[in-house]
Amino acid sequence: MRKKMLVANWKMYKTRKEAAEFVRHFLQETEAQQPVEIVICAPFTALADLAVLLKDSGLRLGAQNMYWPDEGAFTGEISPLMLKEIGVGYVLIGHSERRRYFGEEETLIRKKVAAALAHGLKPVLCVGEDEKERHAGRTGEVIQEQLWGALDGLDLKDGLGEKIVLAYEPVWAIGTGTPARGRDADAVAGLIRSLLLKKGYGPVEGVRILYGGSVQAGNIAEFTTQKEIDGALVGGSSLAAADFAALVKAMSDRGGT
Ligand code: 13P
Repeated sequence: MRKKMLVANWKMYKTRKEAAEFVRHFLQETEAQQPVEIVICAPFTALADLAVLLKDSGLRLGAQNMYWPDEGAFTGEISPLMLKEIGVGYVLIGHSERRRYFGEEETLIRKKVAAALAHGLKPVLCVGEDEKERHAGRTGEVIQEQLWGALDGLDLKDGLGEKIVLAYEPVWAIGTGTPARGRDADAVAGLIRSLLLKKGYGPVEGVRILYGGSVQAGNIAEFTTQKEIDGALVGGSSLAAADFAALVKAMSDRGGT
């Protein structure tokens, strides 16, 4: 059985001081033993501090981006080795904000996924259609294009197993207060799993698929109780410790864990 996951994406929020305050509050508000795997994807500047603060807490640490070579003349970039050294275990790749504001495309995303896997970092690969694509009825097509773009040609003959996490984040649902419907998101998660299987990336039963986009304590169970959805990737509702703790509680109480 796949362990449920809750991933916080803090985006470009929180100084080191604010990150430390969050952790202190959050750990006070939640039980140490959780049936849910919790990952905090923090800004680069807070990662080293958080690695120390989260030690022995059971919470995992994630980055929001990285470049793919081990090192080199790439001003402003961070490598997988640098993340590993700190104790980062996860890295978001292909988030729609990176595609949209920083021009990230398939070739780069694929190199990042490959580099993360090669270094034993778990990529949380984000896919999702935008408003226009949704209205044109192209959701399935877009998901397939993005999946193949990110994974094609990778040496995955042992299957994806637990090496990678997928996140379905419809762009129109991010930060808008209008989430997808649980059953629609479940259908896309099911499509993702069947596409992976079709492509020969099986066994895929262990691959966790998250939903992201306007998730809050009041709606999280609608997603995490679905058959194909194994958790949530959360932006806005992960920023205040009390809100994030409420999400963990909602998932533990009735979220299908
Ligand atoms: P919101 O939860 O703020 O809609 O953001 C979702 C997201 O982009 C997580 O990666």
